[in-house]
Amino acid sequence: MVELIQHPYKYFPYELELAKREVRALLPKAALTEAANGLKLRGGFDPEIASRLVYFAGASDGDRYEPTLQSRLERVNGNGPNRQSTRYSAHGLHEYKGKFNPQIVRAILNILDIPVGSRVLDPFCGSGTSLLECVHLGMDAFGTDINPLAIFIANAKLAAISFPAAVLRADLARSIKRERSIKFPKKGRNLAREEYLLSWFTPEVFDAIERLRISIEEVGKPMSAPLLAIASNLLRDYSLQDPNDLRIRRRKSPLPEKPFIAAYEEAAAQFIGKLEDAQQVIGAIKPKSRAILTDSRELTARALGCTEKFDCALTSPPYATALPYIDTQRLSLVWLGLIPPSEILPLEAQLVGSREVRGGQSKRVLLDQLLRNAAGLPEAQANYCRMLQNALGESDGFRRQAVPLLLYRYFVGMAQVFSALRPLMRDGAPFALIVGGNHTVLGGKRFDINTPQHLAEIADACGWDHIETVPLQTYQRYGYHMDNAVTAEAMLIVRAA
Ligand SMILES: C[S@@+](CC[C@H](N)C(=O)[O-])C[C@H]1O[C@@H](n2cnc3c(N)ncnc32)[C@H](O)[C@@H]1O
Repeated sequence: MVELIQHPYKYFPYELELAKREVRALLPKAALTEAANGLKLRGGFDPEIASRLVYFAGASDGDRYEPTLQSRLERVNGNGPNRQSTRYSAHGLHEYKGKFNPQIVRAILNILDIPVGSRVLDPFCGSGTSLLECVHLGMDAFGTDINPLAIFIANAKLAAISFPAAVLRADLARSIKRERSIKFPKKGRNLAREEYLLSWFTPEVFDAIERLRISIEEVGKPMSAPLLAIASNLLRDYSLQDPNDLRIRRRKSPLPEKPFIAAYEEAAAQFIGKLEDAQQVIGAIKPKSRAILTDSRELTARALGCTEKFDCALTSPPYATALPYIDTQRLSLVWLGLIPPSEILPLEAQLVGSREVRGGQSKRVLLDQLLRNAAGLPEAQANYCRMLQNALGESDGFRRQAVPLLLYRYFVGMAQVFSALRPLMRDGAPFALIVGGNHTVLGGKRFDINTPQHLAEIADACGWDHIETVPLQTYQRYGYHMDNAVTAEAMLIVRAA
């Protein structure tokens, strides 16, 4: 008899459900019974496989206790034993709205029983949580995203874990030393960028962030990306934007007293400490993985630069009423030189799930597309959007009037991603999506939009077989609040037909 012992922190109900599923998937021959702190297993135990479990701290047979890799990572990087750590290794490099917590990625890989050495694809990779977890588990992962900041952060994380933390520490010291002697270049300056930044930073802060950027860039690759990401993560706090508001508003609170450079040094030291702790457990890993800037609706093997098929895909797609990913990150995007200020709104409008309707996609055109089901979506989804359109009342304001059209456009975008991904996968390969439902009120009536169910049906029409939808009650993610009307989330599993 072996006992699998849970971590000391409190679990959400969905984590208890996923914990049982990962044991059943990885140790299918074991007979399970509940125990006070976890599960008892009779037969079918394999210590090496058990060390991959994410929601267990370790296994004990009465004489010996073997910790899981996860508990070793969480212990060294933890927030104390009573809180689940989500920032171990390079995970805490930069905040990102809607970021996965790393445990759920590992749970998905366990539940789908994806072997070491597999190739994994995340078509909405955001800040690269899934890529990092795959790399920790010895898998090659490719991620794609349309947001250049997401790609920057994801690749910065991959760079950070590739070298011993001491390299990053040395480059941090060099960047700080150089910063004092930086002279602003007289030529080659991008005035539109500077003017934009000066509208969001005081001249003193602007001077500090620019000096630091130039000094980090002079330090050079490979560590300039993680160091720039650490500085970028502090920008909103030091800007004239209200750092606590998802939308862009002018701040009322005073700026932090600590000089920017001191905050950078402190944040970098903290990050390097966590990286070092994780490297004591798993070492520095040079991954083949990378994040690629592309629109996943048009994803091809060529864009990925590889012809080998993928064994698994996993992702958390944007929501039907997505977060304003680009808008909230505009300071970082412009400061890092990833896009000119004039591109911010056009890029926001391109996101799957965007709430923006611009130019060629005016509401009239979208309405015509919906009424004709121009994209050839399954009739059930087109009819659902038409039903919402008919439910609109005169009292519904500008934003609500657009909801049925935006939902249709969202479904079309997701259908394009399902279709684009299918030829990149080996037959039978699983694709797991963490998807939230939404609700909206139209014509005074509340509608609960079962997005997971709609996406399952759309996937079925795009070369995938729907296998299962697992409800994940109370799964809370960083950066979501009620304004986004996200209700319960679910894990949708489909397979390449
Ligand atoms: C929920 S977030 C993913 C967060 C990610 N799991 C993480 O841990 O950081 C969804 C992502 O979809 C991206 N996205 C939206 N439309 C896209 C498109 N057409 N192609 C690729 N990525 C897109 C957004 O930029 C955003 O990063």
